[in-house]
Amino acid sequence: MGGGSPMQTVLSAPGVKDGKVVSFTLDAATDEKDTVAGLIRSIIATSSPAQRTAFHVFHINTVVDLFSAWRRTLPNVRPYYAVKCNPDPALLGALAALGAGFDCASRAEMEAVLALGVGVGGVPPGANRSIVYANPCKAEPHLEYAAEAGVALATYDTESEVAKVARCHPRCELLLRLKGPDGGTTGGDLMNKYGAHAHEVSPLLRAAQRARVAVAGVSFHVGSPVSRVDVYRGAIESARAAFDAAVALGMPPMRVLDIGGGFRAGAAFDEAAAVINDALADVFGDLLPCVEVIAEPGRYFAETAFTLAARVIGKRARGEAREYWIDDGLYGSLNNVLMDHKVPRPRPLAGACPGEKTYASTVFGPTCDSQDLVVTGYQLPEMSVGDWLVFDNMGAYSTGAGSKFNGFDISEMKIYVAYSS
Ligand SMILES: Cc1ncc(COP(=O)(O)O)c(C=O)c1O
Repeated sequence: MGGGSPMQTVLSAPGVKDGKVVSFTLDAATDEKDTVAGLIRSIIATSSPAQRTAFHVFHINTVVDLFSAWRRTLPNVRPYYAVKCNPDPALLGALAALGAGFDCASRAEMEAVLALGVGVGGVPPGANRSIVYANPCKAEPHLEYAAEAGVALATYDTESEVAKVARCHPRCELLLRLKGPDGGTTGGDLMNKYGAHAHEVSPLLRAAQRARVAVAGVSFHVGSPVSRVDVYRGAIESARAAFDAAVALGMPPMRVLDIGGGFRAGAAFDEAAAVINDALADVFGDLLPCVEVIAEPGRYFAETAFTLAARVIGKRARGEAREYWIDDGLYGSLNNVLMDHKVPRPRPLAGACPGEKTYASTVFGPTCDSQDLVVTGYQLPEMSVGDWLVFDNMGAYSTGAGSKFNGFDISEMKIYVAYSS
């Protein structure tokens, strides 16, 4: 990081400074969410009628605050932000400026990070340590790109992957991805898709040894998000067993422990960090001076930093029931309702007066698919066409996974970067 405050460094970072940053004043007496709603109102008021379509606000201060909380709470674990969670260039730029590395799963994600100048410019091939290519099954063209770009740390969990790495990128160092214990996830339970079982660890280490591909360490991912934070201890114990297995096979000692993602901002993060810090001290205490511990948080940094504003574009009243159509939905940034088990809690931008009558309301997305249904039986005051709904905490697995189904193209959705003083 440069000499100024973290916020100054972020505001002058590639990905942030290239776009327009809207500034506003955060009133200490007002709730942050209400202040962001005030900003949304002023964006709408100053935009032309044609521009009045659904948009996101990225409150960049949130990421700066979350990064310093991470540093304080998990001081010995460097975060490698999971780009899949939200690849917004300003978010990537802010995190790079703060000192994060990146978990990339494809060529496009690596390109997005390298476009920020992370680890490039005179970095020799094989020395780019700001990216972990954390996709255990890599397509060959993507792996060849990693070799050209000097991305030289990648995960694996099959023998076929070892052969592929030996062929396409033999100087790449590997992290053996272990199957994490069940973290009680509501959303991204990876079940059996990824991760070596305990009895597969030694055979997979031997496969790398035979192919002369170095194994630098171990990774795991306990699910996204994790509701039972105690699972990190079991996963760290399994990682230690794999470190010991490598020594028993006469391999060079491992040096990297990647504890994956699954973190949520707030009290849950403090609880997870306490488990992790204790487990690292108890299980890896003797090795820690020689082991670099990294993590792959996604939603921790992205979820609470983005707010969606969507416009009511249609309405039907049937008796006491109300139905609304809005201009974002399950094929757009609200795809997290389906794919990430998000439970949206929209609120009218105009606010609601105490005691105001509410109606059991259904909110549809804009496509012709009848399953494009955002909420149902949800209490809202009477809304009109042209009113706006605000959705908080919309940064995780939202804009990055939308589509252009029915011609509603997520890539056209505007994201305002906002800085508050
Ligand atoms: C390998 C890996 N690392 C990190 C993450 C990020 O998870 P989260 O956003 O819950 O931190 C994921 C998401 O599922 C993942 O699959």
